[in-house]
Amino acid sequence: MPLESRLFVKTSLVCLVLVALWGMLMSIDEMMGAPIPGMWPIEHAHLAFVGWLLNLVMGIALWFLPLDRARFQQTQGRYPKRAPYFIYAALNGGLLLRIICEPNISSSHYFAIGRGLSALLQTLASLGFIGIAWLRTRGAPHPAPGVR
Ligand code: HEM
Repeated sequence: MPLESRLFVKTSLVCLVLVALWGMLMSIDEMMGAPIPGMWPIEHAHLAFVGWLLNLVMGIALWFLPLDRARFQQTQGRYPKRAPYFIYAALNGGLLLRIICEPNISSSHYFAIGRGLSALLQTLASLGFIGIAWLRTRGAPHPAPGVR
Protein backbone atom coordinates (compact mmCIF):
# COMPACT_ATOMS: atom_id res chain seq x y z
CA MET A 1 0.00 0.00 0.00
CA PRO A 2 1.56 3.36 -0.97
CA LEU A 3 2.51 5.91 1.69
CA GLU A 4 -0.16 8.34 0.45
CA SER A 5 -2.97 5.85 1.04
CA ARG A 6 -1.58 4.87 4.43
CA LEU A 7 -1.65 8.55 5.40
CA PHE A 8 -5.36 8.81 4.55
CA VAL A 9 -6.32 5.52 6.22
CA LYS A 10 -4.35 6.09 9.44
CA THR A 11 -5.81 9.62 9.69
CA SER A 12 -9.29 8.15 9.25
CA LEU A 13 -8.68 5.69 12.10
CA VAL A 14 -7.43 8.45 14.41
CA CYS A 15 -10.56 10.46 13.54
CA LEU A 16 -12.77 7.46 14.36
CA VAL A 17 -11.21 7.28 17.83
CA LEU A 18 -11.86 11.01 18.31
CA VAL A 19 -15.43 10.64 16.98
CA ALA A 20 -16.14 7.82 19.43
CA LEU A 21 -14.66 9.76 22.37
CA TRP A 22 -16.57 12.91 21.38
CA GLY A 23 -19.80 10.89 21.06
CA MET A 24 -19.24 9.26 24.43
CA LEU A 25 -18.64 12.64 26.01
CA MET A 26 -21.92 13.95 24.58
CA SER A 27 -23.77 10.86 25.86
CA ILE A 28 -22.28 11.27 29.34
CA ASP A 29 -23.18 14.98 29.29
CA GLU A 30 -26.80 14.15 28.43
CA MET A 31 -26.90 11.39 31.04
CA MET A 32 -25.82 13.88 33.69
CA GLY A 33 -28.53 16.29 32.57
CA ALA A 34 -26.03 18.88 31.34
CA PRO A 35 -26.89 20.64 28.06
CA ILE A 36 -24.59 19.80 25.13
CA PRO A 37 -23.21 22.95 23.46
CA GLY A 38 -25.33 23.51 20.35
CA MET A 39 -22.61 22.97 17.73
CA TRP A 40 -21.06 19.83 19.27
CA PRO A 41 -23.25 17.27 17.46
CA ILE A 42 -22.66 19.07 14.15
CA GLU A 43 -18.86 19.16 14.54
CA HIS A 44 -18.95 15.53 15.73
CA ALA A 45 -20.80 14.68 12.49
CA HIS A 46 -18.21 16.57 10.35
CA LEU A 47 -15.40 14.73 12.09
CA ALA A 48 -17.21 11.44 11.46
CA PHE A 49 -18.21 11.90 7.84
CA VAL A 50 -15.20 13.85 6.57
CA GLY A 51 -12.51 12.77 9.05
CA TRP A 52 -13.34 9.10 9.25
CA LEU A 53 -15.42 8.22 6.20
CA LEU A 54 -14.01 10.46 3.44
CA ASN A 55 -10.37 9.85 4.45
CA LEU A 56 -11.03 6.10 4.43
CA VAL A 57 -12.83 6.13 1.08
CA MET A 58 -10.23 8.37 -0.59
CA GLY A 59 -7.24 6.47 0.78
CA ILE A 60 -8.56 3.10 -0.36
CA ALA A 61 -9.83 4.38 -3.73
CA LEU A 62 -6.51 6.10 -4.61
CA TRP A 63 -4.81 2.78 -3.96
CA PHE A 64 -7.37 0.39 -5.46
CA LEU A 65 -8.96 1.94 -8.55
CA PRO A 66 -7.63 0.59 -11.87
CA LEU A 67 -4.23 2.06 -12.75
CA ASP A 68 -3.69 4.35 -15.74
CA ARG A 69 -0.01 3.81 -16.46
CA ALA A 70 0.00 5.82 -19.67
CA ARG A 71 -1.37 8.94 -17.99
CA PHE A 72 0.37 8.82 -14.59
CA GLN A 73 3.79 7.42 -15.42
CA GLN A 74 5.58 8.83 -12.34
CA THR A 75 3.41 6.91 -9.86
CA GLN A 76 2.92 3.57 -11.63
CA GLY A 77 -0.47 4.74 -12.92
CA ARG A 78 -2.00 6.18 -9.74
CA TYR A 79 -2.08 10.00 -9.84
CA PRO A 80 0.01 13.13 -10.46
CA LYS A 81 2.86 12.86 -7.91
CA ARG A 82 1.87 15.64 -5.53
CA ALA A 83 -1.91 15.42 -5.95
CA PRO A 84 -2.69 13.13 -2.97
CA TYR A 85 -0.71 15.39 -0.62
CA PHE A 86 -2.63 18.43 -1.83
CA ILE A 87 -5.95 16.58 -1.45
CA TYR A 88 -4.97 15.34 2.03
CA ALA A 89 -3.87 18.78 3.24
CA ALA A 90 -6.91 20.57 1.81
CA LEU A 91 -9.41 17.99 3.16
CA ASN A 92 -7.99 17.74 6.66
CA GLY A 93 -6.81 21.35 6.97
CA GLY A 94 -10.31 22.37 5.89
CA LEU A 95 -11.87 20.01 8.44
CA LEU A 96 -9.75 21.37 11.28
CA LEU A 97 -10.46 24.96 10.27
CA ARG A 98 -14.19 24.22 10.17
CA ILE A 99 -14.25 22.57 13.60
CA ILE A 100 -12.40 25.57 15.07
CA CYS A 101 -14.35 28.31 13.29
CA GLU A 102 -17.92 27.07 12.99
CA PRO A 103 -18.86 27.13 16.69
CA ASN A 104 -17.45 30.67 17.02
CA ILE A 105 -18.97 32.32 13.97
CA SER A 106 -21.24 34.61 15.98
CA SER A 107 -18.30 35.99 17.98
CA SER A 108 -16.19 37.37 15.12
CA HIS A 109 -16.31 37.90 11.40
CA TYR A 110 -12.88 36.25 11.12
CA PHE A 111 -14.42 32.92 12.10
CA ALA A 112 -16.96 33.30 9.29
CA ILE A 113 -14.06 33.91 6.87
CA GLY A 114 -12.32 30.84 8.32
CA ARG A 115 -15.38 28.69 7.69
CA GLY A 116 -15.64 30.05 4.15
CA LEU A 117 -11.98 29.15 3.58
CA SER A 118 -12.57 25.68 5.01
CA ALA A 119 -15.45 25.16 2.57
CA LEU A 120 -13.19 26.25 -0.31
CA LEU A 121 -10.39 23.88 0.80
CA GLN A 122 -12.74 20.92 1.16
CA THR A 123 -14.34 21.63 -2.21
CA LEU A 124 -10.88 21.73 -3.87
CA ALA A 125 -9.95 18.46 -2.13
CA SER A 126 -13.17 16.85 -3.39
CA LEU A 127 -12.60 18.08 -6.95
CA GLY A 128 -9.00 16.82 -6.92
CA PHE A 129 -10.12 13.39 -5.78
CA ILE A 130 -13.05 13.30 -8.21
CA GLY A 131 -10.74 14.16 -11.14
CA ILE A 132 -8.37 11.26 -10.37
CA ALA A 133 -11.12 8.77 -9.53
CA TRP A 134 -13.00 9.71 -12.71
CA LEU A 135 -9.98 9.06 -14.94
CA ARG A 136 -9.20 5.74 -13.24
CA THR A 137 -12.76 4.40 -13.30
CA ARG A 138 -12.61 2.43 -16.53
CA GLY A 139 -12.58 -1.06 -17.97
CA ALA A 140 -9.36 -3.01 -18.48
CA PRO A 141 -7.65 -1.92 -21.77
CA HIS A 142 -6.89 -5.55 -22.73
CA PRO A 143 -9.22 -7.74 -20.65
CA ALA A 144 -8.40 -11.42 -20.34
CA PRO A 145 -11.13 -13.73 -21.66
CA GLY A 146 -14.05 -13.77 -19.20
CA VAL A 147 -12.75 -10.72 -17.29
CA ARG A 148 -14.69 -7.42 -17.37
C1 HEM B 1 -18.20 5.83 17.36
C2 HEM B 1 -18.99 6.19 18.34
C3 HEM B 1 -20.03 7.29 18.28
C4 HEM B 1 -20.69 7.76 19.36
C5 HEM B 1 -20.50 7.29 20.80
C6 HEM B 1 -21.60 8.79 18.89
C7 HEM B 1 -22.46 9.52 19.69
C8 HEM B 1 -23.31 10.49 19.26
C9 HEM B 1 -24.22 11.22 20.10
C10 HEM B 1 -24.38 11.04 21.62
C11 HEM B 1 -24.91 12.09 19.30
C12 HEM B 1 -26.08 12.99 19.71
C13 HEM B 1 -25.75 14.31 20.24
C14 HEM B 1 -27.08 15.03 20.53
O1 HEM B 1 -27.70 14.74 21.54
O2 HEM B 1 -27.49 15.83 19.68
C15 HEM B 1 -24.43 11.91 17.95
C16 HEM B 1 -24.88 12.62 16.87
C17 HEM B 1 -24.53 12.35 15.57
N1 HEM B 1 -23.58 11.45 15.15
FE1 HEM B 1 -22.49 10.23 16.34
N2 HEM B 1 -21.47 8.91 17.53
C18 HEM B 1 -20.53 8.01 17.10
C19 HEM B 1 -20.11 7.81 15.79
C20 HEM B 1 -20.65 8.42 14.68
C21 HEM B 1 -20.31 8.13 13.30
C22 HEM B 1 -19.30 7.06 12.89
C23 HEM B 1 -21.05 8.95 12.52
C24 HEM B 1 -21.10 9.09 11.03
C25 HEM B 1 -20.34 8.48 10.15
C26 HEM B 1 -21.85 9.78 13.39
C27 HEM B 1 -22.72 10.74 12.96
C28 HEM B 1 -23.54 11.49 13.77
C29 HEM B 1 -24.49 12.46 13.30
C30 HEM B 1 -24.79 12.80 11.83
C31 HEM B 1 -25.11 13.03 14.42
C32 HEM B 1 -26.19 14.09 14.45
C33 HEM B 1 -25.55 15.47 14.39
C34 HEM B 1 -26.60 16.59 14.47
O3 HEM B 1 -27.52 16.50 15.27
O4 HEM B 1 -26.43 17.57 13.74
N3 HEM B 1 -21.58 9.43 14.69
N4 HEM B 1 -23.46 10.94 17.96
